[in-house]
Parts: sequence; C-alpha cells; structure tokens
Amino acid sequence: MVKVYLIGAGPGDVGLLTLKAVKAIEKADVVLYDRLIGDEVISMIKDMGKELVYVGKENYEKGCERQEEINWMIKKYVDEGKIVARLKGGDPFVFGRGGIEIEFLKKHGISFEVIPGVSSINGVPTSAGIPLTHPNVSSSILVVTGKEDLKKFYNFNGTIVVLMGKDKLGEICMDLIDAGRSPETPIAVIENGTLKNQRVITGNLKNITEIVKKEKVRGATLIVIGDVVKFRYG
Ligand SMILES: C[S@@+](CC[C@H](N)C(=O)[O-])C[C@H]1O[C@@H](n2cnc3c(N)ncnc32)[C@H](O)[C@@H]1O
Repeated sequence: MVKVYLIGAGPGDVGLLTLKAVKAIEKADVVLYDRLIGDEVISMIKDMGKELVYVGKENYEKGCERQEEINWMIKKYVDEGKIVARLKGGDPFVFGRGGIEIEFLKKHGISFEVIPGVSSINGVPTSAGIPLTHPNVSSSILVVTGKEDLKKFYNFNGTIVVLMGKDKLGEICMDLIDAGRSPETPIAVIENGTLKNQRVITGNLKNITEIVKKEKVRGATLIVIGDVVKFRYG
C-alpha cells in the first residue's frame, strides 16, 4: 500500500493540477506543501477536508537543513499511520529535490508513488503565449537555473529557459552577450506564470535588466531567451 504520494502540483493554476494528482490527494490524510503551490490549489484541498502543513523553503541557503526536517516530518506522519501527499510545485523531479525525498523514503522502507506535474518549464511560457520551439527559429531548448554559467553553452543557439534567475538577470544577459549572442536577442521575464496576476515583461539582452527593475518584479519568475519570444501571441 502506498504511504507517500510525491505529487507535482503544476505551476500554480488549479486547472493544471492533473486528475491523477487530485485522486492521490483524495486518498491522503495529510498534505505537506511547498511555497509555490497556487492559492486555489490550497483552497481546493482545504475544501476536501485534508490536514495541510506548509513546508516551504524561504531561504535557499537553509535548503539542505530544511529538506532534512521535511524528510523526517514525512516519516513522522507515516509512523502515525497517515497517508501523506507531498505536494511540490511544477514537476517533483525538476529542480525540486524530489530525488532526495525518494532516496530517503527508499532508505526507510516507505512505499511511495511519484505523480508527474506540469512543469513551469513548459507551463509558464505556454501560458504567456510563447512557443518554446518554432520551426523557423529554434528546435532545441536548454533549461538551467540562474546559478549556471551560461558561457559554457556558447555553441548553443536554441531557446534558453532559466528558472530561479531573477536576481542574476544582469549577469545572465552579460554572459550571453560575451558568449556571442546578439544584444538584440529577445527575452521574456514571466512573473507568476499561469496565475491571475501573471505578468510578461519583454525586452532584449541589452535592456531587460533595467526594464525589470522598473517593473518591480517580486513573484516567481521564469526567463525565456531567444527568437521564439518574437512569436508571442496575446
Ligand atoms: C525550485 S524551482 C521548482 C521548479 C518546479 N519543480 C517545476 O517543475 O516547475 C522554482 C522555480 O520555478 C520557477 N517557477 C515555478 N512556478 C512558476 C510560476 N508560476 N511562474 C514563474 N516561474 C515559476 C521559478 O523560476 C521558481 O523560482
């Protein structure tokens, strides 16, 4: 019998929660959820009468320590005989430490099932009307976090998607220009993608940092870089 469901909740919009995810949540007694789970997803789970426990990570530096606490919290609920739904933003295996959680569960002999989610990687650009590939301009996608050294990819000329890159935007743009991308390369910064307060800010490698500063971007942000941004609709 499955004791823990590791569930991808999608990028925020409750409509992007999969049917499989909802069915797993229905089976759970307690739901442990991360920071970027959409408010409407949380309201839906409240209405289902489930016990909700927030286990978000506020500070990246404390990530490992916090992760350890979360692992033991999951075990505590399982030891109490509860079925746990562990709800993660997007897909649990995309920059979400899902791999660490299943390692822990395996080590402690706890049965689990992983339920894929719509990742922000594709859900957010599509919701912003930006195709990640386009036959005329890009047939490949590079997905990185803001910590990545983009100069390594100087040969790559397809679409680049950056997660957790807001605070490094200036550096990312400079690195790409240094690596040979044109300063005119289009770029989109998408804040709170798929949600009602979604904002799409566009520019190019030369001017986007200034624009984003003026716009006071504060929410979860995903960056799309490349000529595909020109094909944005809406
Ligand atoms: C720790 S990563 C987790 C990614 C997640 N597992 C996934 O598959 O989307 C969190 C980052 O994903 C991006 N992200 C997640 N949801 C987003 C949203 N609704 N709008 C914009 N970016 C989002 C942001 O870059 C955020 O800092």
